[in-house]
Formats: sequence, structure tokens, C-alpha cells
Amino acid sequence: MKRFTLLLCCGIITFGAFGQTTQTSLAIIPEPVKVINKKGHFTLPARTIIEASSHTGVLAVTNYLKSKLTVATGKNVVVKNTFTTPAAIKLLLYTKADTSLGKEGYHLRVTAKGVVIQANEPAGLFYGVQTLVQLLPKEIESAEAHHVAWTVPFVDIKDYPRFAWRGLMLDVSRHFFTKEEVKQYIDQMVRYKFNLLHMHLTDDEGWRVEIKSLPRLTEVAAHNVKKIGEFGSFSTPTADEPRTYGGFYTQDDIKELVQYAKNRFVDIMPEVDVPGHSLAAVVAYPELSVTAGADKYQVRSGERMRVDNTLNPSSEKTYAFLDKVVTEVAQLFPFGYIHMGGDECNKAYWAKSDSVKALMQRENLTTYEEVQSYFEKRLEKIVESKGKKFMGWDEIIEGGLGPDAAVMSWRGMKGGITAAKAGHEVVMSPTTFAYLDYMQSDRIMEPHVYATLRLNKTYEFEPLPDSVDAKLILGGQANLWTEQVFNMRQVEYMTWPRGMAIAEDVWSPKEKKNWTNFYPKVEKQFARLNEAEIKYAPSVYDPDFDASFTTDSLIRVTLTTEIPGLDIYYSFDNSYPDRYYPKYTEPLVAPKDATQLRVITYRGKEPIGRMITMPMAELRQRLTRRRRN
Ligand code: ACM
Repeated sequence: MKRFTLLLCCGIITFGAFGQTTQTSLAIIPEPVKVINKKGHFTLPARTIIEASSHTGVLAVTNYLKSKLTVATGKNVVVKNTFTTPAAIKLLLYTKADTSLGKEGYHLRVTAKGVVIQANEPAGLFYGVQTLVQLLPKEIESAEAHHVAWTVPFVDIKDYPRFAWRGLMLDVSRHFFTKEEVKQYIDQMVRYKFNLLHMHLTDDEGWRVEIKSLPRLTEVAAHNVKKIGEFGSFSTPTADEPRTYGGFYTQDDIKELVQYAKNRFVDIMPEVDVPGHSLAAVVAYPELSVTAGADKYQVRSGERMRVDNTLNPSSEKTYAFLDKVVTEVAQLFPFGYIHMGGDECNKAYWAKSDSVKALMQRENLTTYEEVQSYFEKRLEKIVESKGKKFMGWDEIIEGGLGPDAAVMSWRGMKGGITAAKAGHEVVMSPTTFAYLDYMQSDRIMEPHVYATLRLNKTYEFEPLPDSVDAKLILGGQANLWTEQVFNMRQVEYMTWPRGMAIAEDVWSPKEKKNWTNFYPKVEKQFARLNEAEIKYAPSVYDPDFDASFTTDSLIRVTLTTEIPGLDIYYSFDNSYPDRYYPKYTEPLVAPKDATQLRVITYRGKEPIGRMITMPMAELRQRLTRRRRN
């Protein structure tokens, strides 16, 4: 007992040694509701005691914190739930609820006595712990022990989320990510207080979840041919190319993932994408297609799509199949919603089918949107018969929506607004702000996708439109489609830092969002991600290139950066510029014979951006294309 007190005193003695902290130096993402900074620090003692309420949900939080502290500090970290010893960190559930904090809010105080986090529920303590981790030195993110001063600034933070649904979607169909990789992703998302992982489990490129009553789904439709290059334009696989690329999650894998996520207060929402994007299902069970010859189909390997990837809406076999799938999926995933896709269904194949024509006559359907609506309404009944809520992409609105369907709005906010106005629950995940598969800077710097979404644009995402009932907007989510994402490092690169912006969009009060405060915090988070060896995109330092023709048909280039206060140095002579080269101060007119413009961004004396080589031919082509349009 004496020893503990002595060590705790050592902790207190260092307080104040590092002077005043300011709010920006805290760099918490997402920005908390209320932060009061005070002068001074608490330093974790050599033997750090965590005192916690004894509650099974809190155990997951203490174990999480203990492991993080033990690894990075190398300290002896002890968890107690007796209140006899003075503890450096207390994680306490309120005995009388603080209603202002809700289910996920917390109150974190750091004083000379130590750290106290209080919450109504374990989830709140977990988010308080995430904030505490961000208050500790960046070395807390390391997988090795560091001998730094383990200080926490004196603060008083009250915090709770703006939205209950704070999601990220990972497409594990276009490229398969292993169970361990998905766990890694969960670990990364909780840093920024996301609480929902949407797994896009099925698509044309592979079926990723074991359905015991339909074994062919994973026997023949979970693997394709490994191709490297630009997805969408791969060569057609030949018979001798092995179909061994991909994989699937067994039901035990899913149970393990669900539990892993639950321990981190994350729900997993499964998505089974039908009736379009269903080639994997059709390959396994060709009788689900309206198109003759579907028995010759194979799972797509990224070649151009030339086959019917839809399920037959006019066949009872389709509904029997879906009933089996949904039965098992509902048992595997405890989350209340099942997402059944519904996007981008190519109805041209239905238009050629006598059986679909007969359905239309029988059911008095006049358009193919109404045919999809017939399909979705039947599917909604199946999902609800398993005790789950039905969710789909906003296409499900088009021919009329089932009474209790929830909508995920991706083609902008419009579909979500329409659905909410009709009384449906909505999650906003518009391409305009929340598509993480889009490029993050100039096309020449990124794997090619058809659109760009810069960090500052993701930061403008406002999930709640003025015109709708706020109760119906469950929250927001960013989506990472993985056609061009071939490995986990690239998953990280595409997610961070844009995921940080989305986190703030869905957690922080609207009035607390401010780009000028946000980007310096992102840069501090970069240092933390470096410690954690998590990849992120440095694209925020890449300038935008805007070209125009001068009256002499020379090319004028205007460069802009998302972050102010940076210097851009450039060359037209094919050499690599540094800060002794000309600095960009006004639009540049390229010399007539220049073949490329090279630029690099500095902050003061430090190179901070990537060396970018922009071919003049590329700019000329963009201008010519623009003139033609
Ligand atoms: C989608 O991006 N097709 C939902």
C-alpha cells in the first residue's frame, strides 16, 4: 500500500513541468462537445492502477486500455475493482445516470489526482478511453515500449456523439480481406469513435460468407483469377488461369469477428447485394438467372462485365434462395438491420424475359423499377420474418418502397431526403462526400477511379438536411469499395485521413466543425499513425492543377493546396525541385517546349508533399477534352 502511494506521488510531482496546453495541441478527433483546458499534467506512475466498475461490459474497456498501456509504456498496469487503493485511472459507471451524456457519452477529467472517466454505459467509457489515448504522447500508438514522460494534460471533457450511426463500409467482395485484416480495420475505426462496420459480403467478384444450406456459394463462387493492374479492364480469364484468389469467412470466423467488434462497441451490419451485383450467387446457382447460359458463367475477375448479374425476380426459386441466405445471416449477425443491396440492377436482362413479362402482367407492374420494387417488398418480408429490419441502397425507392424499409442514400442526399420525408429511416452515405474509393488528389497520383474526393470535401459532409425530421436520419457512413484496392495497406491509405473527417462529421456538434482547426489536428494524427504503422494518404499536401490556354496557346497552370501556409517549388527542366528552385507565387505559363512540370510542397525548410511530375501532354489532353465538351 505504501509503495503505491509513493509511486503515485512520483506521478503527481511532475505535474506542471511542461507548461500550459492549448486546445489545438490536444488534437482530439472527433472534436469533443466541450473541452476545458487547464494548466499542468498528470504523469502515469511506474505502476499504473486502473480502477473500474465491476461490470462485464466495462471489463472489455479495461482490458483494452490495459493492453494499450502495457505495450507502449512498458509499465506494470494493474486493474482493480476494489476502491481501497489510489488509482491513476478510474473508469466508473454512474450509479445515477447523467442524461446529458446518453448511451455513448462520457465525462473525462484529468487532475493532479489522476484520470477519471465516467459514463452511463460501458460504450461511453470506451470512447472516454479513446480520448485519453489521444491525450497521451503519440508513442502510446507504438507496438514497442517507449521511455517517454507519460503525461496527460489537465482537462475536463464532456462528450457525446451527434449521431448514433457512425459507419464505415468495407467491400470484402471485390477483394477479399482476411478475418485478421478486418479486425485490424475495426481497431483503426474505433480510434475515431466509429461504431458500425458495414461488410459488403457479396458481389460479382465473390461470395464471402459461408451459408451452410447453400454450400456452392463458397465452393464455386468465392474465388476468381488473380489479376494485377487496373480493375475493370483486365484480360478475360483463360481456362488455364487458376481460380484460387479470394476466400470467404466461415460461420465461426463471422462469430469471432462479431465478438471482436462487440468488445470494441462496434456492430457489424452484413450486406447481401441483390438483385443486381449477384453474379457470385448466379454462378453457384444458375437457376436463379432469367438468362439462358448462366450455367457457363464464372465469378468476375475484373474483366469488363458482359453477363447477366441479376437474380430472376419472377421465380419462386429466387425467394426460396433468399430465405435460406437471410435465415443464416440473421442468426450470424446480431445487429438489428440486414442490408440487402438493391443498387445498380441492370434490368435489360429482365426486359428480355417472358417470365418477367408474365410477372408484370400478373402483378400489374408497368415499369422495371416496379418489378424491382415487387422484389424488394417480398425481400423485406423475408428479412422481417427473421426479426430484422430491412435496409437497401436508395434505388429501392424507385418503384415504391415497402412500409418499414430503411434507406442508405448513396446517389447524393436526394434519395435519403425523399425516403425520410416519406417516414423511412435513413443513413446518409453520399458519393459527394463519403466515397472513400474515390481518388484523393490529382489523377496522376492515385490509382484510377472515375472521381475525386479530397479531404476538405469529406469534411463538408452534413448528414442531416434541414428539411427532414432529424429522428429519421440515423447518421452517416463512408464507403470503401475495393475494385482498385488490392491489399490492406491500400485500405488504410484510402480510409485515412478522410475517415477522420467523416468521424468528425458524424460525432461532433455541427457548430464545432471548423476546417482551420481540423487540418492541424489531422497532421498531429499523422504522427500517431506513423507510430502505429498505419498507412495514410499524404494527398492533402498534393496541389490541385488547374490548366488553361493563354492567347498564344501556351498552357497556364494554377496550383492550389487544401492546406494554407505551404510553399510549392517547381521546375520545367525535368530536374527535381527543392526549396532552392523557383517558388510558386502566381499561375505559371509553361515554356513552349516543356514536357513536364515538377512540383514539391514544403513547410518552411521541410519537404512535406510528394514529388509530383505532371506531363504537359496530360494537361493539354485535359484542356482539349474540356474544349470538346
Ligand atoms: C453503390 O455505390 N453502388 C451503392
